[in-house]
Amino acid sequence: MLEAPVVSSPALPLAGRHIVLGLSGGVACYKAADFARELVKAGATVQVVMTDAACQFITPVTMQALTNRPVFTSQWDARESNHMPHINLTRGAHAVVVAPASADFIAKLAQGRADELLSLMCLARPRETVPLLVAPAMNREMWAHPATQRNVAQVKADGATVLGPAAGDQACGEIGDGRMLEAHELRDELTAFFQPKVLAGRSVLVTAGPTFEAIDPVRGITNHSSGKMGFAIARAAAEAGAQVTLVAGPVHLATPRGVRRIDVMSAEQMLAAVLPEAKRHEVFVATAAVADWRPASAATQKIKKDGSGQVPMLAFVENPDILATVARLPAGERPFCVGFAAESHDIVRHAREKLARKGVPLIVANNGPATFGRDDNALVLVDAAGERELPPGDKLSLARALVAEVALRVLPQRA
Ligand code: CTP
Repeated sequence: MLEAPVVSSPALPLAGRHIVLGLSGGVACYKAADFARELVKAGATVQVVMTDAACQFITPVTMQALTNRPVFTSQWDARESNHMPHINLTRGAHAVVVAPASADFIAKLAQGRADELLSLMCLARPRETVPLLVAPAMNREMWAHPATQRNVAQVKADGATVLGPAAGDQACGEIGDGRMLEAHELRDELTAFFQPKVLAGRSVLVTAGPTFEAIDPVRGITNHSSGKMGFAIARAAAEAGAQVTLVAGPVHLATPRGVRRIDVMSAEQMLAAVLPEAKRHEVFVATAAVADWRPASAATQKIKKDGSGQVPMLAFVENPDILATVARLPAGERPFCVGFAAESHDIVRHAREKLARKGVPLIVANNGPATFGRDDNALVLVDAAGERELPPGDKLSLARALVAEVALRVLPQRA
């Protein structure tokens, strides 16, 4: 077994992991080459095992070059002095990932067959310590067939994790379910798989990004929030096993895998989206930089210069405080509320004031101007018990640390 502790970072999320990557036969083998590369770039060591059918689609030479390790294709491989590659290959591994997993290969797994190296190795792996993940790839009719669905259910019942498949254009020209996930999606799924499931079965609602308050159809007021921290929290919560809903202001960020996203523009729209969701979620993390004011009335047509040199006078009204509104919901409908405080000075004092003013149990304070748009951040947790700094780091690592803190605070409430 590998004894070294696994220390990962967003740049190398799979550092220290040893992954056995199995390829069974299918056109998606071309994506497996990219996936192997993604794994290596993410810091993992990768040992490839291929079936004969996989070797019809891509050569072991390619996979060896990408992983820098000789590929195994036969249980009779004489390179293993004990002639037992089916045993040796998984003994130091953190996971076996079969991508692509063909319909035939899934059928073999379901039946516990072992007539070639890859299925033999899957059967012989230590199930308690070496999880099996499979990424199906096949024609939509094959995927939908009751036999395949029966086999997939059996493979899941036996403890394997099934990644995907996705829907879309297929190599055969048909469109439907059965496409293998893309390489970067598989990498993210595997990274998430290794995160502790501290919020398994829980639900988390997150607001993120700026709001945009219209002045007229072409202009508005907004701010510099990039949404990165909120998106990182949504991702970290999903990785931790929670069902996550993300209410996002206007940002150009990809939705984290497995997260349900609701896009809004203004503070009022954000409140309207959040309120019904808040009652259905156990945790609410408000990271959005909601505009404090909006124009009292947005013009329906573009406001034009009239040539007089006069500047239009805009009247403003205050926006609703979304976090405080949720925190005032009656007990039983109110999620555990976490606020963010973006400050430019006296960070902890202001955060403590917000804790009281908004009536929330936890405020996460940060230096707003120093962090807008950046990938790193530094956070201070402020609650009734005191302050605690999370060590500075990238936003995803901080989000994971915050999720762990929230889990600690939410768990006893259920007991
Ligand atoms: N917040 C909110 N709705 C608002 C304003 C803020 O939900 N209308 C939430 C933010 O998402 C954040 C917290 O309240 O979680 C604090 O936001 P911040 O902008 O730091 O504080 P404000 O209440 O706007 O106070 P100030 O502008 O005076 O610092």
